[in-house]
Amino acid sequence: MFGFFKRKQNTLPTFAPLVTDMHCHLLPLVDDGSKSLEESLEVMEAMKAVGYQQIKLTPHFSYPRFPNVEEQIMERYAHFCDEVEANKGDRDMPRMTGCTGEYNLDDGFQGHIDHGNLLTYRFADPKRGAEKGLLLVETSLHHKRMGIDEIIFNRLMDGYDVILAHPERYPYYDSHSSELEQLKEQGVYFQCNVLSLDGFYGEVAQRKAFEFIENGWVEFLGTDMHNVEYALALRHASTNKKIIKLMETTDFENKNLAVI
Ligand SMILES: [Fe+2]
Repeated sequence: MFGFFKRKQNTLPTFAPLVTDMHCHLLPLVDDGSKSLEESLEVMEAMKAVGYQQIKLTPHFSYPRFPNVEEQIMERYAHFCDEVEANKGDRDMPRMTGCTGEYNLDDGFQGHIDHGNLLTYRFADPKRGAEKGLLLVETSLHHKRMGIDEIIFNRLMDGYDVILAHPERYPYYDSHSSELEQLKEQGVYFQCNVLSLDGFYGEVAQRKAFEFIENGWVEFLGTDMHNVEYALALRHASTNKKIIKLMETTDFENKNLAVI
């Protein structure tokens, strides 16, 4: 009997257990992600092929490079959904179930707080999570910025849950970082990139991603898809035996995020 279930499980695409991708840059021409509708459609088709049923778009909110405004992004998202529906043809694609943002904790972040319309996720279970939802944040990939812990703490106090995007990609945090440990103690969620697990960002990020997961620090996995090159890398990652085993043995929270 167990053999039967094991075989059945192995027939599922690798990332099917996650159900939902909660980090990708497929809203065209608003950041460094997709450059066209066609590119987004190609990437989304590739995501479905490796098991994703739903995706939530997360354009960068980053100053001064991507000075996006929440209301404009949501307008573009609504238009993009119409365009996808009109142009997808017979492609098999995940459903788009919302658009939030990946907020850089930079000099422009306070402006978004003051603006008062931060885009967030929610848990499907209404009893779970903070009142104002889950906020996806990132910080510099190059230099440690001072005061990040205070900015995050203030958001927690203000009624948000915080998800730190791809902690494995910050070169100044190692897998035993006391600063990251402190964030975990405060209840900050971590999201690693699935491509990190396959070495897409190098060996150090790959090692740290697995170590963070072993630490029990990682609640979410994101694809962080930007373009077709990433989609090819995602296909490669879906054949990685260590990742396949991880997907079969570890429970992540992706599937518990609400449809917006
Ligand atoms: Fe991202």
